[in-house]
Amino acid sequence: MRLAALLAALRPVLPLVLGLSLGCSLSLLRASWSHGAGEDPCLGAAGRAGPPAGGAQPEAGDGRPGQGHEDFRPRIVPYYRDPNKPYKKVLRTRYIQTELGFHERLFVAVLTSKATLNTLAVAVNKTVAHHFPRLLYFTGLRSAKVPHGMVLVAHGDERPIWLMYETMYYIHQHFGSDYDWFYIMQDDTYAQAEQVKALVTHLSINQDVYLGRAEEFIGGDEQARYCHGGFGYLLSRSLLLKLHPHLDSCRNEILSVRPDEWLGRCIIDFLGISCISQLQGQHYHTYELAKNAEPEKEEEEEFQAALAVHPVSDVTLMYRLHKHFSRIQLERAYQEIQELQMQIRNLTSLTPAV
Ligand SMILES: *[C@@H]1O[C@H](CO)[C@@H](O)[C@H](O)[C@H]1NC(C)=O
Ligand SMILES: *[C@@H]1O[C@H](CO)[C@@H](O)[C@H](O)[C@H]1NC(C)=O
Repeated sequence: MRLAALLAALRPVLPLVLGLSLGCSLSLLRASWSHGAGEDPCLGAAGRAGPPAGGAQPEAGDGRPGQGHEDFRPRIVPYYRDPNKPYKKVLRTRYIQTELGFHERLFVAVLTSKATLNTLAVAVNKTVAHHFPRLLYFTGLRSAKVPHGMVLVAHGDERPIWLMYETMYYIHQHFGSDYDWFYIMQDDTYAQAEQVKALVTHLSINQDVYLGRAEEFIGGDEQARYCHGGFGYLLSRSLLLKLHPHLDSCRNEILSVRPDEWLGRCIIDFLGISCISQLQGQHYHTYELAKNAEPEKEEEEEFQAALAVHPVSDVTLMYRLHKHFSRIQLERAYQEIQELQMQIRNLTSLTPAV
């Protein structure tokens, strides 16, 4: 009788009690499962984690940087603070990305001039600029009217070598720590933006790269080559960082009329690196346009494969080139669609109707 009364009194809270106990037992069960399954890895990890905890020395002994996956082994650096030294506040960067040293991929610099800023540079802006994540225009002197929506850096000196020098300096100072690759082109270059982007994704970073259309120096019989500025060229971040301390010497010592030759000379003389047109199986294809060339009539393989075409003499030619290369890309896309449709059709007979 009394038991029945007690049960009746407990009845309203019964679901709660049941739920709680079920939850507790399930979580206990889960904990024991995950322990059971993960026993070995846990023990193993603990065993391995043991020795390095004593100090960083064991790692420094066997893991030299640059040896395959040895790079990725965690290193435990013991925390030690000298009580005699004043406490220094750690400066936190705004983005975790900056602190971890991640970089954006590609920065593009377009060398233009006061005279062509409102014509050719605008054509570059309308055809390829939006394909690149970051693109800036560089001139010696600022023109009266900067076209809308274009980021222009004017250095205040019209001499071509100065433009190159200042541009390199500027890129290093403002973007040297943010990007992996630096693509330098002129406003009379037509670049196939998507192909240039694809190229850099296939190249490994952390090497000194000076990639473009390799040209011999005029009157020189040496092996070293410079990258022709008209066809654009790619510099890696590590090369830019190494070049930076020598820029002043190059400006003072190297006499050249052409800015691309000047830069090539500078890179060759101070870093011993020559321009190449091919790296890790990736070719930097270029095509030199003949005078009065008609983009619509160029059928050559060399032209279709070109990453960069030069010289683009006027705005209309730039748009025609863009139209032509866009059409080629469209045809490729249609072909891919057709192949996929064929594959689907072929497989239809093998899959039961749903
Ligand atoms: C240049 O490109 C930017 C971004 O694609 C665009 O917003 C701007 O209107 C363009 N300016 C001109 C003059 O074409
Ligand atoms: C589909 O099948 C045809 C012949 O049955 C064959 O020629 C073709 O290569 C196949 N295509 C694909 C994409 O598998």
